[in-house]
Amino acid sequence: MYGADLAEVFELIHQGRGKDYLAEAADVAERIRARTPGADSLLDVACGTGSHLRAFATLFGHVEGLEISEPFARRAEKAVPGATIHVGDMRDFDLGRRFDAITIMFGSIGYLRSAEELTATLRVFRRHLVPGGTLAVDPWWFPETYLDGYVSGSLIEVDGRTIARVSHSCLEGDASRMDVHYVVAGPEGARHFVENHLIRLFSRERYLAAFAEAGYPDTTYIEGLNSGRGLFVATRDRDPGGADEGGPS
Ligand SMILES: C[S@@+](CC[C@H](N)C(=O)[O-])C[C@H]1O[C@@H](n2cnc3c(N)ncnc32)[C@H](O)[C@@H]1O
Repeated sequence: MYGADLAEVFELIHQGRGKDYLAEAADVAERIRARTPGADSLLDVACGTGSHLRAFATLFGHVEGLEISEPFARRAEKAVPGATIHVGDMRDFDLGRRFDAITIMFGSIGYLRSAEELTATLRVFRRHLVPGGTLAVDPWWFPETYLDGYVSGSLIEVDGRTIARVSHSCLEGDASRMDVHYVVAGPEGARHFVENHLIRLFSRERYLAAFAEAGYPDTTYIEGLNSGRGLFVATRDRDPGGADEGGPS
């Protein structure tokens, strides 16, 4: 999952499908500063190949990324020169510092495997936020907004290459299973690869409960953003310890 073949074309595909990384980052930055005025440091969790992070770097004085896939992290380093990209797991990391803001974009939070893991991971994020810092979560679909059996297809022609992406998604227990087929063709030849994803469908209420349990007393859900998935914006309590039992200083 999220291997080297995909790292090479991931941003091209999603930009080709109309995703506006710059506009999304600018909107998130504005919502963060409405809650944490003067926010200047930001950590983008599950930063992928660094597409949002590149935009955040123009909007914040200090940015860092965290990403579990090594090939994706390497691409992010190239995309955002000067930013530290940590290879790590969002469920358990300690960067030894706090940020004014944390973001996790494009449904990446759905890779958590249970409600318990969701709350525990939000606590890990809290440990990395200054008191009063803000977390923005672009969630995966909710059970009630998810379309079982959804098929999507795109053909992108860019940089002398033709890229086809066809996905099929269906319910598997309380998760969505998404199989994505890619064909990348250019003068040197054509190759096909497949990526399989299991992405959890937490309900809106489950997210809100997890934020409260993890030490974010003030969370808002904004409908309609991010292709319809929406956005949670949550502010960390001002208690220096509390829900996280310590953390980076
Ligand atoms: C849909 S991509 C989004 C990437 C990027 N945020 C963007 O908007 O382009 C999901 C990302 O989550 C990362 N990811 C999945 N599980 C993770 C984990 N446990 N810790 C950190 N990153 C993870 C994947 O490697 C992948 O880069």
